[in-house]
Amino acid sequence: MLISRLLRGAYSVMADKFNVVFVLGGPGAGKGTQCAKIVEKFGFVHLSAGDLLREERAKPGSEYGELIENHIKNGTIVPVEITCSLLERAMKESGKNDFLIDGFPRNQNNLEGWNNQMGNKVNLKFVLFFNCPLEVCTQRCLDRGAAGSGRSDDNIESLKKRFDTYMNATMPIINHYEGQGLVHKMDASQGPDEIFAEVEKLFS
Ligand code: C5P
Ligand code: MG
Repeated sequence: MLISRLLRGAYSVMADKFNVVFVLGGPGAGKGTQCAKIVEKFGFVHLSAGDLLREERAKPGSEYGELIENHIKNGTIVPVEITCSLLERAMKESGKNDFLIDGFPRNQNNLEGWNNQMGNKVNLKFVLFFNCPLEVCTQRCLDRGAAGSGRSDDNIESLKKRFDTYMNATMPIINHYEGQGLVHKMDASQGPDEIFAEVEKLFS
């Protein structure tokens, strides 16, 4: 009796939490492309930290617009208070429970801010890591820019800075989760369908 009551209690606590998969990898590793496929097949909600920041930047009169644009152009990371609030708001507004959080946490500040603000509200299922050689990623971003992505950071100067940030600030976060046995590392140099064939096994 007592045990079943305890189990039910534990279950309801788990059920109240948001389920989260973090999606990480360098610029152009295919995070957004794969997330779209996961959404289509498995019904998660896709929240890209970069997209949320770009949306916030575009709001007329946004208090943080200029700060966000400076970080994006320089490939540096926006303070977590801003990014985490945008994520939490989007999670609540969705009314859903299962999230792919793409491009976050990107550095130690992101990780600590998230743990403080969201740590006891989420159940982190795993971290999907798209590992891709720098040359492949660079070419994809330049192609994306040439095809009219309209992004102020799909150019070679910004890309260099974005890769610096990725190597110096984001890789330690991936290693941190790796140490907790939470990372699924994917070879992201292949085509989208080949990558997805591996990715979908994790969600089935
Ligand atoms: O993930 P994405 O390439 O769209 O991110 C674009 C830019 O948005 C990053 O280079 C960074 O300046 C900003 N960003 C951030 N914090 C995050 C995710 C993105 O500051 N967690
Ligand atoms: Mg993206």
